[in-house]
Amino acid sequence: MEGSLTARDRVGIQDFVLLDAYTSETAFLDNLKKRFSEDLIYTYIGTLLVSVNPYKELGIYTRKQMDLYMGVNIFELPPHIFALADNVYRTMISEINNHFILISGESGAGKTEASKKILQFYAVSCLRTKVLDSVRDRLLLSNPVLEAFGNAKTLKNDNSSRFGKYMDIQFDHQGAAVGGHILSYLLEKSRVVHQNHGERNFHIFYQLVEGGEDELLQWLGLERNSQNYMYLVQGACVKVSSINDESDWKTVQKALTVMDFSEKDIEHLFAVIASVLHLGNVHFEASQGYATLNSSEEIHWLSKLLGIAAHVLQEALTHRKIEAKAEEVLSPFTVDHAKYARDALAKAIYGRTFTWLVNKTNESLENKDSIRKTVIGLLDIYGFEVFDVNSFEQFCINYCNEKLQQLFIQLTIKSEQEEYEMEGIEWQPVPYFNNKIICDLVEEKHRGIISVLDEECLRPGEPTDLTFLEKLEEKLAGHPHFVTHMLADQKTRKTLGRGDFRLMHYAGEVTYSVTGFVDKNNDLLYRNIKDVMRQSKNPIVQQCFPSSEPDSKKRPETVATQFKSNLSSLTKILMSKESWYVRCLKPNDDKRPGHFDDVVVRHQVKYLGLMEHLRVRRAGFAYRRRYEVFLKRYKPLCPDTWPNWKGTAAEGVERLVRHLGYKPDEYKMGRTKLFIRHPRTLFATEDAYDICRHELATRIQAKYKGYRIKGDYLRQKEAATKIEACWRGLQARKERERRAWAVKVIKKFIKGFMNRNQPVSMDNSEYLAFVRQSYLSRLKENLPTSVLDKASWLTPPPIMREASAILQNVYTRHLVRTYVKGITAQRKAQLQMKALISDLFKGKKENYPQSVHQPFADTRISEKDMNIRVLQLMCPEGIKYSVPVIKYDRNGFRSRFRQLVLTQIAAYLVDEAKIKQRVEYSSLKGVSVSNLSDNFLILHVTCEDFKQKGDLVLQCSYLFEALTKLCLVMKNHNFIKVVNGSVRFDIQPGREGVIDFKSSSESMVYRAKNGHLIVESTQMKSR
Ligand SMILES: Nc1ncnc2c1ncn2[C@@H]1O[C@H](COP(=O)(O)OP(=O)(O)O)[C@@H](O)[C@H]1O
Ligand SMILES: [Mg+2]
Repeated sequence: MEGSLTARDRVGIQDFVLLDAYTSETAFLDNLKKRFSEDLIYTYIGTLLVSVNPYKELGIYTRKQMDLYMGVNIFELPPHIFALADNVYRTMISEINNHFILISGESGAGKTEASKKILQFYAVSCLRTKVLDSVRDRLLLSNPVLEAFGNAKTLKNDNSSRFGKYMDIQFDHQGAAVGGHILSYLLEKSRVVHQNHGERNFHIFYQLVEGGEDELLQWLGLERNSQNYMYLVQGACVKVSSINDESDWKTVQKALTVMDFSEKDIEHLFAVIASVLHLGNVHFEASQGYATLNSSEEIHWLSKLLGIAAHVLQEALTHRKIEAKAEEVLSPFTVDHAKYARDALAKAIYGRTFTWLVNKTNESLENKDSIRKTVIGLLDIYGFEVFDVNSFEQFCINYCNEKLQQLFIQLTIKSEQEEYEMEGIEWQPVPYFNNKIICDLVEEKHRGIISVLDEECLRPGEPTDLTFLEKLEEKLAGHPHFVTHMLADQKTRKTLGRGDFRLMHYAGEVTYSVTGFVDKNNDLLYRNIKDVMRQSKNPIVQQCFPSSEPDSKKRPETVATQFKSNLSSLTKILMSKESWYVRCLKPNDDKRPGHFDDVVVRHQVKYLGLMEHLRVRRAGFAYRRRYEVFLKRYKPLCPDTWPNWKGTAAEGVERLVRHLGYKPDEYKMGRTKLFIRHPRTLFATEDAYDICRHELATRIQAKYKGYRIKGDYLRQKEAATKIEACWRGLQARKERERRAWAVKVIKKFIKGFMNRNQPVSMDNSEYLAFVRQSYLSRLKENLPTSVLDKASWLTPPPIMREASAILQNVYTRHLVRTYVKGITAQRKAQLQMKALISDLFKGKKENYPQSVHQPFADTRISEKDMNIRVLQLMCPEGIKYSVPVIKYDRNGFRSRFRQLVLTQIAAYLVDEAKIKQRVEYSSLKGVSVSNLSDNFLILHVTCEDFKQKGDLVLQCSYLFEALTKLCLVMKNHNFIKVVNGSVRFDIQPGREGVIDFKSSSESMVYRAKNGHLIVESTQMKSR
């Protein structure tokens, strides 16, 4: 850690705690100066941030810078206001407690800027939602509004806060900014009516006159020229180069609307502001020693803006009401009195309106949820101030700074030392200047300056500033921090006026002029003026002067006393919170950038107690925690203390720090707390804790995951077993049922089988049904495919015989029908012919079966193969069929090739171009064929006619075809005769021949010696 610190430590030292010569103011200043010259304006003293006003833009507040510092350990990056802000924020979230950041320093040292930067950082860094964005906007925009009304240019600072501001930013438990609240302290009202040379009134007046729209100014009766207003010109410094009133006016306008100020509110607000300007221009003249008014126009506008009748106003500004014996008497003012009353009224109006504005702002920032909130307070209060002439305001401001210094001492140095003592830690006391003596000097009861002032103010008679001074001298003579002209020694007396008193503040000597102390402290407003204001029609004025205000009979608290009690309650608010500090320094008195005035800075370093703070830091311990708390957080770092330590917390811590290797000078064990000297030791521990926490988290995560997975696994396993068992049971039950069923079925089946031939009864009906179904199913699979296939029809079981027969019949018919439907006309004719021939020869002629499968042709000789002459002769008769034949001569039986042609009328035997024989069908007696396998046919012709040549002996390869054709043309088939053995035929009328048909091993045709024609044919195997 240190190594990396040194590496980053480019210029000087980033943390004064690491400064070697930490007691040397010169070394302190050198470091500050070295860094300042490099524009490094921030340096730490531990967690306290020292800031030196650069008086120029450094470009170190960008969004990028904010991102850089978000969530980073404060010492890991160069010192920055963002680092501090982030650290506060994160501590608040992790420790869930309230914090405040005290920003202190002289006027112009950069307090307000610092508080704005912190606010801007939170606006960007905290958790955001849409709703919260509006809170964020209001928080941010409350700044320009309050600055416009409460800041002014002074000699020290062009934007000097003339009121103290304490702002609480409220966060919810997630760290989102959810609301805010502002407390304001003692506005410097005197500025409304008077400004020192070189100073201005509050910004808002100039913004209104310079930036206000024409109609608005017209409506308010104002002119666009600040020089015209008495209250704006006394400092002779209306225009300031660093201030742009016009654009600031626009910003304020926008901010007001965002912050829920209605149009009417804004209208009334500026009516009040304008009325103050008009009041300043009210002019009195002396007439017979009394004041008379000479500003009817101003009165007119006042009357309009405040909603009070002009004459009433006029009277109130020039007269005073005196009560005398239950009677009210009007007493006229002198001119001075009148001016005094006028200014008092202007101050009262402005002061009360400012309070109204703060209240209104708070309404807009308020978070009404009752959720638990933690807060970060930002205290930006006017810094210690020394002018040439210092009055009551400076007295109050410087008193306030004394109180804050006292608080700082109490919260840091003193409480630190006391704690060491309480814890029994050896400690070398660090001498420091305790400014309690000065606080007492101012605020002590009866003796303190405020008490004396109040006493004087409330005293009957004619108290004056000088009588007050006398009282002070009386009471405080000899006090080491108080001196007046009268009380001073010779040398000092020269530096003091007669009406002055001097206080040795912690931050230096300041000489106050008593002039105005009594009046300002009384802050009296004549009662009749108050009464008049109560009549106002302007709602803001009405609220500022409520009728319930205690009457003048009881004196209101004086300004100083009010301030004192405000500060005391502020102290209480702050004491209850964790404190953080930003100490702002100004490098020179001239607002000059880049110029480091040693004397000016040294003075501030001194009175801000920075050296003492550093010494305490170095001598003391950067960090302390109760043993229990420390142990609880860091116990995972040591195996002995993790997860539980049995002994006392102190022993546990002792064991823990030894385990962590703390060196003896790095820590001390107190009575109830552990003290760690250097931040680096704690950071190292915290880093280790971070790593360990991750490891632990991983381990716990892994263990938990393992545990969960194991649990899941076991559950799944158990479930699986259960499911398995159930499943098995189910399966077994099913199996058992199945078997029981099977047994039943088989039994029934057997019974059915045994009774299959009995009439249908309970015993066999199922079996028979099964047999039926089984037969039908098998039959369905095995149906014959052809009509001819009669054998493959399944043999039916006895009970199906009848059904089977019917089915076979039906099926055969079905097959036949299908077959018949599929037959062509040609095929039909063919079949008819085949049927015809079948009738003639089936079982009668041996070679008939071989012919069955041979299809019949229409003819065997096409006409084109026939002789044309022969054709011409036959054609008129219509040629029906022709076929080649062998003709055997009747005599000698020589064989010759001829063509047999059948016409409608006759059969012709043709030899090439010659018709050899014509046999009319009418003369055809019959046709003989053998019963054997030869192809002979003998046409018997009626031989009455001698011209006839006798019977024809023919051999034809297409015997059956030719015969069929012949039957068809003759439309008769009875003429065919099948003969066994021999056939007689007519050679000539009256002369017969014989043909003997025989079976033989060889086919042969020859003439036997007996003159018979022997026809031998091989016996055909019947198919
Ligand atoms: N961090 C800063 N960076 C640049 N300029 C700064 C810074 N702080 C202060 N200033 C300048 O100094 C002026 C006075 O600062 P301011 O915060 O108003 O002083 P204070 O509130 O302490 O009186 C600012 O107007 C601004 O010009
Ligand atoms: Mg300021």
